Amino acid sequence: MKKSRPLNIPIRSRRLRRTSGIRRLFSETNVSPSHLVAPLFVVDGQGKPESISSLPGHFRFSISALVREAQRLARRGVGGIAIFPVIPQRLRTPGAKEALNPKGLIYRAIRTIKKELPEFPVFADVALDPYTSHGHDGLLNRSGKDVDNDSTVRFLTRQAVLLADAGADFVAPSDMMDGRIGYIRGALDKAGFTETGILSYAAKFASSLYGPFRDAVGSTQSAGTHSLDKRSYQADPASRRAILRDALLDEKEGADLLMVKPAGPYLDILRDLRENTLLPLAAYQVSGEYAQIHAAGQKGWVDLQKTRNESLLSIRRAGADIIFTYFAKDM
Ligand code: PBG
Repeated sequence: MKKSRPLNIPIRSRRLRRTSGIRRLFSETNVSPSHLVAPLFVVDGQGKPESISSLPGHFRFSISALVREAQRLARRGVGGIAIFPVIPQRLRTPGAKEALNPKGLIYRAIRTIKKELPEFPVFADVALDPYTSHGHDGLLNRSGKDVDNDSTVRFLTRQAVLLADAGADFVAPSDMMDGRIGYIRGALDKAGFTETGILSYAAKFASSLYGPFRDAVGSTQSAGTHSLDKRSYQADPASRRAILRDALLDEKEGADLLMVKPAGPYLDILRDLRENTLLPLAAYQVSGEYAQIHAAGQKGWVDLQKTRNESLLSIRRAGADIIFTYFAKDM
């Protein structure tokens, strides 16, 4: 076939996309397992791992199974783990007393993991939702209608110190109370935990994408309804300026890194933060994001692996240094 005469297009972007070698050479963003943090659920007892139906491929692990899972993840090069406790309903109270039991599940789990894998980074949530009978992240005020800020912060500082004492590398306040970062930093320092870091869930939105997580830890059941309303403390999904202000306050109060959560629908927020702070940034690709991609993949409506890779790449491109993701193990 005769080659037709080229059009007059001297500048052609496709030269830099021509072969896989060239594309690889100029690739601007990458996702390596070392950037990823795997969320893991732990439950008391010696039972077999319980599968979580809304989070396919994820389990509630006993402490010994959790250690084995952490070892597998470390071997695969995953960057770290975030551990969430599943507390039996009978130990949940309005005052979240079990959260301050130094022999409680999460503290034993962290101690055991750190003994086996001292170098493997462990993140631990600071929040009361696994422990409250109402499912909220904090203590309720006198009217019982809303979470009380200051008594919650006071409680969280004690939880953070216990988590640091158990060996968490980072405590991660996910509660969205005002002033908690400064008070937690102060409490950690006063107790001698100057080296324990604070990952602030700084831009955490009142999202509809936490459903599978709440099933996994059982806070949906505590609320007795699927509409656990956290809008008086988690950010309005319509906000952009307000949450940037909030996140930058966490930096001033001493956070070592800031998180945006959920990730995929909030990439603009991630980019805003990237342009307004020099701190490292984390993004949490939450349970509902995983569930969406997974379910469409299972149906064959999208290619699971490619959609997964693209979702993580986009989060990195928007500015995340590290990503909490339920895909960590598969990557
Ligand atoms: C609660 C907490 C939540 C998640 C992490 N920590 C849920 C919530 O705010 O109700 C959600 C994570 C996910 O959906 O994967 N402190």
